[in-house]
Amino acid sequence: MTDPSSKRRQYRESKEEERITLQKLERKHVRISETDKEKIDDVTDTGELKMPRKRFYRQRAHSNPFSDHSLEYPVSPDEMDWSKLYPYYHDGGMEEGQISKTVEIADIGCGFGGLTVALAEEFPDTLILGMEIRVQVTQYVEDRLLALRENSDESNGYQNAAVIRGNAMKFLPNFFYKGQLSKMFFCFPDPHFKQRKHKARIITTTLLSEYAYVLKEGGVIYTITDVLDLHEWMVKHLDAHPLFERLDKEWEQADRCVQIMSNATEEGKKVSRNGGDKWVACYRRLPSGAT
Ligand SMILES: C[S@@+](CC[C@H](N)C(=O)[O-])C[C@H]1O[C@@H](n2cnc3c(N)ncnc32)[C@H](O)[C@@H]1O
Repeated sequence: MTDPSSKRRQYRESKEEERITLQKLERKHVRISETDKEKIDDVTDTGELKMPRKRFYRQRAHSNPFSDHSLEYPVSPDEMDWSKLYPYYHDGGMEEGQISKTVEIADIGCGFGGLTVALAEEFPDTLILGMEIRVQVTQYVEDRLLALRENSDESNGYQNAAVIRGNAMKFLPNFFYKGQLSKMFFCFPDPHFKQRKHKARIITTTLLSEYAYVLKEGGVIYTITDVLDLHEWMVKHLDAHPLFERLDKEWEQADRCVQIMSNATEEGKKVSRNGGDKWVACYRRLPSGAT
């Protein structure tokens, strides 16, 4: 009998080869040819790329945000090569690495990418970036987006969405300029239940100051969780921060992104299936010096 872990590894290795080929073609602004498609196993009868199979990319649920993951990150936003992530927005006339737009929406701890994909559909002219710390989960989202892009080549769909492996608790100002983002999503973040682990939570006073730095004035932080204790923790820290102001329930009800984040993420769908509660809190980034 084949060892299931080696089957998973084999699948991921073949997807990695496919990913490298697809990414090279994307950078040259070339679509995959019918002959190339014949070499790929994961093509449907109608010639579309199949979506990657999530079960082959599963990884231990929690990753320690304090450990050294030997992550790659630019020394400053000026050094970031966005054209690798959004090749559609780079043309030959531009400097290497440059693109014609900047990322405006970040899905922090994007997991398997349900929200990143949904936001790409909702805001086709805005660049969305999913950031995820786990390697295999990031690779799943990369493969998912490559397949979606390839399958919607007529409309250039999903060219505005990308994912990056990164630790949002450490390097955000290396990626984004001051005031660059208009929305940041924190959907079903890891709860780190034990008191001694609370410092690993993705909302803390120090981190909020960093999020306030990369968010533009008037930008919004969206949070949702099924863990009441974590919701109360996030509300307590956000309420206490001088650069954030809570948006009321009426605002939440009218906001399209609140509806999307409540239903689009994999974790949110799991909570719905289990009949769990979902706690939402959204905050506007106030002008500096407003208080
Ligand atoms: C419970 S999952 C939720 C995933 C997704 N947002 C959803 O709602 O389906 C939390 C995700 O955040 C990721 N994560 C945790 N800490 C992170 C960090 N510091 N930077 C980036 N991603 C992180 C985890 O690897 C995990 O995939």
